[in-house]
Amino acid sequence: MAEPLATPSTQARPDGVRVRVPGKINLALCVGPRRPDGFHDLATVFQSVSLADELRATEAPAGVVTVAVRGRGADLVGAPEDNLAVRAARLLAETYVPRCGAHLEITKGIPVAGGMAGGSADAAAALLACDRLWGLGLPSEALLELAALLGSDVPFTLLGGTAIGHGRGERLTPVRVDHTFHWVLVTSPDGLSTPAVFRRFDELHPPETVPAPAVPEGLLAALVEGDPVALGAALRNDLAEPAVALRPELAVILAAGTEAGAVGRMVSGSGPTCAFLARDAAQAAGIAAELRDRSAGQDRRPGPDVHPARDVYVVRAPASVGFLHAGRG
Ligand code: C5P
Repeated sequence: MAEPLATPSTQARPDGVRVRVPGKINLALCVGPRRPDGFHDLATVFQSVSLADELRATEAPAGVVTVAVRGRGADLVGAPEDNLAVRAARLLAETYVPRCGAHLEITKGIPVAGGMAGGSADAAAALLACDRLWGLGLPSEALLELAALLGSDVPFTLLGGTAIGHGRGERLTPVRVDHTFHWVLVTSPDGLSTPAVFRRFDELHPPETVPAPAVPEGLLAALVEGDPVALGAALRNDLAEPAVALRPELAVILAAGTEAGAVGRMVSGSGPTCAFLARDAAQAAGIAAELRDRSAGQDRRPGPDVHPARDVYVVRAPASVGFLHAGRG
């Protein structure tokens, strides 16, 4: 069983537990045929990025779990009863301490419904924060088990750093990466539904034609060697084609990033966020500036216009905190 790469702080403070949890990109997302349970076997490489949500958990009466969400895109987050962080806190309480409750406050930094595991990250943060708040001190195996019940990406967001995922994405093998890569992310104002993207994958690829998934050759070596050009060439996302089929303007954004000189490009997870790999931090800043200009219609050079109302972020990966960072207060 995978071990977290760092251990969060566990000091008690009266004003609750605060957890910062990064979003992720998938450097590879190789999809196998649809399984009888409706999921798809994956061979994926997750990496956390330096865009994070923050969650604060404070004591509430027994059985009560509430949530308040603020920050960019908070209005796009679903109703509290559907909130994955609420479900995570409830699952933890039901499993171990039914007499406990929590108020959760989430500040969004990860794009909502952007294919960057924002909801999963909040669930992971809720598990970790409530575990500390309620004094459980569960071993990481127990938290990872609950995480897998909540969603395919939740175990990775609990682990952070870089990891290979198999099964639905919940069977993790951490990968040590000492180099920092620099990415530009372009978000979309409207999210894409992950089940809809997988359904379109099935329509485009009848199950009998889909081979067992495998991580592309060269990807892990490029990561470990810190070679952005080799990594850019090895990136692969089998959900890009169905995501672009559902949202054709993503092809324009991807082309704009290539035009701006990115050494790699891809749709992040099930989209619609697009991710562009740069050679270094300076080039990432340049690519971001060009994409912002295009998005604002200010770039007069020939090439694709990026649809307006998009956010462009420069991020590092893996996030400098290799694991979700937790502290009290
Ligand atoms: O696990 P999670 O709740 O995030 O999955 C959302 C949906 O995405 C699933 O209901 C399924 O339709 C699809 N999915 C899949 N195969 C995976 C992960 C997700 O088909 N490995």
